[in-house]
Amino acid sequence: MSVTKLAFVGAGNMNSAIIEGLLNAGDTPSSISVSNRSAPKLERLSKLGVATHINNVDACDQADIIVLGVKPSQILDVCREIRTTAARSGALVLSVAAGVTIAQLEQVLGKETPIVRAMPNTPSTVGAGAAGLFANAAVSEKGRTDAQRVLEGCGIATWVESEELIDAVIAVAGSAPAYFFYILEALVEEGINLGLAPEQAQTLAVQTCFGAAKLCQNAETDLATLRNKVTSPGGTTQAALTTFKELDLQGTIKAGMRAAVARAREMAQENG
Ligand SMILES: NC(=O)c1ccc[n+]([C@@H]2O[C@H](COP(=O)([O-])OP(=O)(O)OC[C@H]3O[C@@H](n4cnc5c(N)ncnc54)[C@H](OP(=O)(O)O)[C@@H]3O)[C@@H](O)[C@H]2O)c1
Repeated sequence: MSVTKLAFVGAGNMNSAIIEGLLNAGDTPSSISVSNRSAPKLERLSKLGVATHINNVDACDQADIIVLGVKPSQILDVCREIRTTAARSGALVLSVAAGVTIAQLEQVLGKETPIVRAMPNTPSTVGAGAAGLFANAAVSEKGRTDAQRVLEGCGIATWVESEELIDAVIAVAGSAPAYFFYILEALVEEGINLGLAPEQAQTLAVQTCFGAAKLCQNAETDLATLRNKVTSPGGTTQAALTTFKELDLQGTIKAGMRAAVARAREMAQENG
């Protein structure tokens, strides 16, 4: 992304994760500017060498891509603020907000503005993000490539066929790091209850999560086969899995994912 100028509006969790991921991957800080309505979060980013602004329009001036990373309830106001600047430069607007539709963004920015909706996640900070993307009709092939490169600078990125599928990406990837942290919290807590030292329990649980993910990435077999390889009949793993099945752990996880999708749709209605 060395020649593409990127502006980030909002210096919160998600935008900071993308910025740090891009810098860790070797992007030049001088190609990145970022704005936030309050100063403290900008100070840290400023130390990384990116240009920081309190004024959103100043940050977006001359940007090729403007990444909007404010809360869904704040994003349309930000669009109103930057629309003239974006129109003048022809910048592509990339929104990472959950529950704000392309139609809602077009209502403020105009249908002629190239807009990409992206649903990334915070492992972007360590170059291990996973994002889904969807573009409006105004996005050119070059715009698609540029938007994809922003997200691929800090992980993987995949285009979805319809905008509704962004909600599915929220359930599977955007919100999902928190599911894994939640499960890890349980593993660590019970490890401690069973007598392990807290640090030991955390190190073992996190490394196991990492190792399991790596096995899945490298495996030529499906997930159930990988699970079966750890599950000897009548053994300890089977005892644990039988309990999970009796308590319908998978059903619970799927219900949580449907709740995430329902909330994204509700948020879109709230943005009306
Ligand atoms: N967090 C995730 O895992 C995740 C994953 C996928 C997508 N997203 C999406 O990413 C977006 C941001 O989420 P987040 O978790 O990063 O939230 P966050 O940490 O609260 O960040 C939002 C940032 O926007 C700033 N801001 C608010 N209004 C502004 C304005 N008018 N002008 C400039 N800056 C403004 C806030 O500044 P202050 O510091 O002054 O409040 C804050 O730093 C959301 O739309 C969310 O749906 C998040």
